[in-house]
Amino acid sequence: MVAGIAIRLATAEDATGIAALSRIAIESGLPWRWTPTRVRRCIADAASNVVVAHVGGSPLGFAIMKYGDDTAHLLLMAVHRDARRRGAGRAMLAWLEQVAQAAGIGRIRLEARHDNEDALRFYSRLGFVQMALSHGYYAPGIDAVVLERRLAAR
Ligand SMILES: CC(C)(COP(=O)(O)OP(=O)(O)OC[C@H]1O[C@@H](n2cnc3c(N)ncnc32)[C@H](O)[C@@H]1OP(=O)(O)O)[C@@H](O)C(=O)NCCC(=O)NCCS
Repeated sequence: MVAGIAIRLATAEDATGIAALSRIAIESGLPWRWTPTRVRRCIADAASNVVVAHVGGSPLGFAIMKYGDDTAHLLLMAVHRDARRRGAGRAMLAWLEQVAQAAGIGRIRLEARHDNEDALRFYSRLGFVQMALSHGYYAPGIDAVVLERRLAAR
């Protein structure tokens, strides 16, 4: 990991940048669902955390997690292409997981595109296990792999 990566909660001013990164890095070829309005709603939602990884004032990426009673759902995460493999993804996930663990939540769940090899390697490296395939999750013909990681009780 690059020294100096810090994680902070997103503010409404981050919504446009987060939505733009989602469109490029995650929703390419799909309808744009994570618009600035939707991201802003998540930032304001008491059951969700939206975090930004940054070095100094420069954002590297973001992640959005929604917390339920026993499951926390990682809704979205991306790191700018030129900032990948520097530990930002791992650092954001660790931050969000700590909150889940402190709340007594037992597992993290997420969906990734079945053909997103980089993401599948990343999640596998971080201990996520493939649970199921969700047919047509993103769009007709675009399936999702459902991944899960159990959290140790604290
Ligand atoms: C998936 C993603 C968020 C990972 O973020 P990142 O900041 O690059 O990940 P990290 O640097 O924290 O990687 C942690 C470890 O995961 C593994 N990993 C990450 N990306 C990998 C890749 N492309 N290939 C193989 N292993 C990878 C490595 O073991 C890495 O540790 P190392 O670099 O010391 O070997 C990033 O690739 C991304 O934004 N992809 C496009 C958007 C996306 O697919 N989001 C997920 C949708 S569900």
